[in-house]
Amino acid sequence: MRRTPQDLKKLKDRGEKIAMVTAYDYPSARLADRAGADVLLVGDSMGAVVFGHATTLPVTLDDVVRHAGTVVRGSDAALVVGDLPFLTYANEADAVVASRRLMQEAGVQAVKLEGGRPVANVVKRLTELGVPVMGHLGFTPQSQMQIGLKVQAKTAAAARRLMEDARLLEDCGVFALVLELVPAPLAEAISKRLRVPVIGIGAGAGCDGQVQVWHDLLGLTEGKPPRHARAYADLAPIIEAALTAYVEDVRAGAFPTDAQSSKMDAVELAKALGQPE
Ligand code: KIV
Repeated sequence: MRRTPQDLKKLKDRGEKIAMVTAYDYPSARLADRAGADVLLVGDSMGAVVFGHATTLPVTLDDVVRHAGTVVRGSDAALVVGDLPFLTYANEADAVVASRRLMQEAGVQAVKLEGGRPVANVVKRLTELGVPVMGHLGFTPQSQMQIGLKVQAKTAAAARRLMEDARLLEDCGVFALVLELVPAPLAEAISKRLRVPVIGIGAGAGCDGQVQVWHDLLGLTEGKPPRHARAYADLAPIIEAALTAYVEDVRAGAFPTDAQSSKMDAVELAKALGQPE
């Protein structure tokens, strides 16, 4: 049985932390699901870590639908959340179409979208129609060109606005909220004030759960990983060494050997090649 939005609420109410991680394909989903992650996020962070773009903005709905389908097929215990990409939920009608595709075509159980007051009507409409929606406030990567890549809500006025947005999203029906790059004491206060679970990334330990990007957790990030990330393994050199060994073996004729090859009856081969038996 998969986790549900209601299960996440129960975890919060019991004071148990929620573990969420991004996944973008079948093998990453299989491994994260087996590791016991509560939520797999098919994030539009795929724009950077999978597609090699500088931001999430070029990611399309087709991209997320395709990748989300693989994550759903690779998991059976975690709740799978699909990101609504940039400008696919600018109005209620678009948001309904995008959510329908993610839920019906890809099979995700919930969608995530970024922003506060400007998307409140969209969140309300989607939740009225039965779509579980996860909110996302603080640093919202789809607005990176406007707000810059930095910690948000550091002044009293900005922090108050963030708290109002968080409460508004809760009132509009989100089942959980991601807070990204928000000062830890503020994120903790919001987590305590909201009834729904708050999942932090770069928002300190006081949130109800944490989300991290797959590549950052496993040492696969190109360049310097973000300050809020911790690599639990350093896989890039291990993978590179394995691939280097393969390339060298191919060049040296050391791969494949008989162990990786199939035999053929000599008579059949001679017949096939048109040679006398
Ligand atoms: O796209 C993503 O991976 C995200 C997380 C960073 C929360 O939105």
